[in-house]
This record gives sequence, structure tokens and C-alpha cells, in this order.
Amino acid sequence: MQRIPVVLDVDTGVDDACALLLAALHPGLDLRAVTCVGGNAPLADVVRNTLLVLETAGRTDVPVGVGASRPLLEQPVDARHVHGSDGMADLGMPAPTLEPDARIAVDLLRDTVLAAAEAGEPVTLVPLAPMTNIALLARVHPEAFARIGRIFFMGGGANVSNATAAAEFNVFHDPEAAAVVLDACAAHEVPVAMYGLDVFYDPKVTDADVEALRAVDTPVARLAADLISFHHRRFANDGATIGDAGAVAMLLSPGAVRTERRPVRVELSGTWTRGRTIVDTRDWSGDMAHDPHGVSPAMVEVALEIDGPRIARLWLDTVAGEVR
Ligand code: BDR
Ligand code: CA
Repeated sequence: MQRIPVVLDVDTGVDDACALLLAALHPGLDLRAVTCVGGNAPLADVVRNTLLVLETAGRTDVPVGVGASRPLLEQPVDARHVHGSDGMADLGMPAPTLEPDARIAVDLLRDTVLAAAEAGEPVTLVPLAPMTNIALLARVHPEAFARIGRIFFMGGGANVSNATAAAEFNVFHDPEAAAVVLDACAAHEVPVAMYGLDVFYDPKVTDADVEALRAVDTPVARLAADLISFHHRRFANDGATIGDAGAVAMLLSPGAVRTERRPVRVELSGTWTRGRTIVDTRDWSGDMAHDPHGVSPAMVEVALEIDGPRIARLWLDTVAGEVR
């Protein structure tokens, strides 16, 4: 199997942890590095959680870069009401023994992207968090940004929102960063796909799936079961989304997701709409040609429909150790 070189940017995060397990363990992916940013929890918690997940997965070889602790302009807001007070389900895990890489996130990203590009196997960058680190990469190391193979980000939504009535959490948290990244993708012709809230909630894991994972009884399966059952308890239902892990699964199973190539902009002002991704779904080019704003140069593959059970099964089989 041809392995896809990937780098994850995370704010671990219950569902970022699910995504890390998939990226660390699936044989179709070659996880080259992980970078951390403040988001679901403060940066120090995000770094600890990320190291713990990689250690549990036995991937102590993967360098972890520490990135931005806050958005470019906004004050940080976290989502501990969703992810627990430590950002990762309050499982009481011991401190990790693994240490972060000596390089800060933008330098680790630069080195990893350039090394992969020079070896002829460009990296797929998967931001699963506010895109502060990625925007900084675009500004600090534009030559490296230009050599990213493609970006698959979790964020935004054409029709669904969560942080506010208009905006999704990752984009709302740092709208300027998301706008910079979309602009940089257009300027450097880096292909970009958006795994937003239109599909995010569909790949679900049930109580019965969690029980089956517990029966596997490996450290990875136990962690995966604990993460999902935390969300079952928190939201008092028996079907929790694998969240960010779906964006990683989309790399492995592109046929399970229907996308449309659409111009996308980020709303940077607006009284009630700041941080909304404006997905241009107009179907008559005449309207677009006469738009007084012009059309967004950022053309994005927007995920609009997903085969949720297929994506959830891919994740379950991987964390159960059935995919090697
Ligand atoms: C996104 O925000 C975070 O809560 C999740 O980890 C995911 O990346 C969903 O809006
Ligand atoms: Ca996340």
C-alpha cells in the first residue's frame, strides 16, 4: 500500500485524540509530525494530551511541535465544556514521558514540508484546530507553504454552525488565520479541502461499538473507548461523532465523501456572523461575474455529504488493531 505522508495540526481535544490515533496507526498513513495550537484547551494541556496519545499509540518517533497559544487577533476561548477540564475527557492519565521537539511549530512544519517535497512525496497537511500555526507558516516560511502537497482542514460549514449561530469553532476562534490560509492556498496553488460541520457529526460510534472496543483490551482500544464514552455521557446519547478523525479518514476513503469545488471566503466582520465560512453555491456564472465583491480566489473542495457508517467503521477497525 502506498502510504500518504501526513502532518496533523491539533488542539487535542477528545476528537483530535481520535484523529491522532487513526493517523498514528493506519498503515495507509505515514505520520511525519504533529503541531499543537491553543484551541479546545490551553496550549500546555493540548501539548500534554497530544504526547499522551502518541505514547499510547507507541509512536514516540513522531516529533511534536509547540505552536501558538492564542489566535492572531482574538483572545483565546476554549471548549472545555465539550472536551473536559483537561481538554481530553478527564481520564486521569499520568504525565507523558515523551518531550516536545526542540523546534517551534512553524519551524517543524517548514522542515517536514520541505524534506518531503524534496523527496518527491509532498505532505498532506491536516489542520484540525484554529489555523493560527498554518497562517504563521504562510507568513514566516512562505517558500515552505508553497510546497505543501495539499491541505485538508476541519473547520467551517456551508450550512451548519456550532460556536455561534453563524460560525464553526475552529474558524470562529481565529478567523484571520483561516482567511490567511485560504488566501495563501490560492496564491501558491495549494489544493485545499474543507471537512466542515455539514459532515462532521455523521460518522458515529455507538455504545455497542464502545463495548466491543473494551473487549479488545489493548491500551489503544481502551483509550479510544474512554474518549467516545466521555462524549456519550456528556451529551447523554449513545452515538458520538469521531469528529476530527473523519477528516483524516477522508484521506483514506475519499469515495465515502461527496465534495463540491466552491469559492470560499471567511467573514471577518459582521455583528453576528464573524468567523462564518461563506461557501459560494451560486450556480449561474453570470451572477458570479457581476458580483461587486468579485469571486473568492480560494477554490475549495467542500465536503457536503458523507457515508458516516463507513468512515466510523474505518476508525473502529483501526483502533481495534484490525487494520495493520
Ligand atoms: C472543531 O472544534 C473542536 O471542538 C473540535 O476538536 C473540532 O476540531 C469542531 O467545531
Ligand atoms: Ca480539533
